[in-house]
Amino acid sequence: MKILGIESSCDDTSVALIEINEKHITILAEKTASQIEVHAKYGGVIPEIAGRKHAEHIIPVIEAVMETHTRPDAIAVTYGPGLIAGLLVGVEAAKTLSYIWNVPIIPVNHIEGHFYSPEINTKTQEKNSIQYPALALIVSGGHTELAYSPVPGTYEKVGGTRDDAVGECFDKVAKLLGIPYPGGPKISKLAEHGDGNKINFPRPMEQSPDFDMSFSGLKTAVLYWLHDHPITVENPKFENEEGSFTIEDVCASVQSAITDVLISKTTAAIKKYSPRTLILAGGVSANKKLREELEVLTTKLGINFRLPELAYTTDNAAMIATAGFHRFNEKKTVLWKNVIADPQSSWYKEN
Ligand code: KG4
Ligand code: ZN
Repeated sequence: MKILGIESSCDDTSVALIEINEKHITILAEKTASQIEVHAKYGGVIPEIAGRKHAEHIIPVIEAVMETHTRPDAIAVTYGPGLIAGLLVGVEAAKTLSYIWNVPIIPVNHIEGHFYSPEINTKTQEKNSIQYPALALIVSGGHTELAYSPVPGTYEKVGGTRDDAVGECFDKVAKLLGIPYPGGPKISKLAEHGDGNKINFPRPMEQSPDFDMSFSGLKTAVLYWLHDHPITVENPKFENEEGSFTIEDVCASVQSAITDVLISKTTAAIKKYSPRTLILAGGVSANKKLREELEVLTTKLGINFRLPELAYTTDNAAMIATAGFHRFNEKKTVLWKNVIADPQSSWYKEN
């Protein structure tokens, strides 16, 4: 079947048309209008501006995707969680198209979209199916969640951040170093040439018996450390009686602290839940060190490891359409009148 996906929960207006069945996913057309340049000036996403930009982009993006295609069989749209102004733009567009084309809407939870993103394989078009039970580590600028999925469509909360999301932590540390938003990718690039053991930044809650995490203290620790060791992109080196430090060392040490916490919580969750598959998804799943360390861990433990292609780590409509297919099969379509944008919606539900 053909599904049109629409994603507008944060700062990307993304639309994708996919052809999908039990075994294959083909991306027929996709387009994403990014707002990074607009928000970079402010060092983070400004919700009012994001809403206005989504409204400007949505129709041209849909037109570009549908230019050479006929109407789909269903429309999958992100209804939440996310920023209300953006969600409303996507949901209203989906409702209008559903009415005009007379096709059903599948409301999709954004996090569930990330969960299914590893199924997309643009090289072979063969679906990378998930074996259940599955454990998922979803890490992005807005979310840090460990979730357990015993069977398709059911998710239980295992743990998550109590304050900042992992991507937010990367971005805030980047800002302290004078690296423009979003700084996560730049930090991981710089970290490749640094010593991750050079500075012993705290690993908050690493030893706590639960699966919760906290990243705001790490950012504060970096702030204090930089106060005594003034390093920025303009002045990337500092020396004192303790030794000499580079911006690469700072980035590598921050990245080590973050990945250590994520790996130890994920390892403990795997031991408790014994999943057949570990899923890593979300913007931060582009991080090379995190990918590599989880690859090593899952190989050692003998479980499947599923992670998205780099292009599908960040927010995208193809993953929303992919998740929509599963919901469609579970008969979770909704009449256009009854679709509601819900910025606080949770994906933890019993089916
Ligand atoms: O999923 P996403 O595109 O948007 C949200 O839903 O938040 O994630 C974006 C986040 C940003 O915080 C960005 O800095 C981070 O993912 N990110 C990375 C890397 N690539 C993107 N963080 C660390 N290392 C990376 N390579
Ligand atoms: Zn996301």
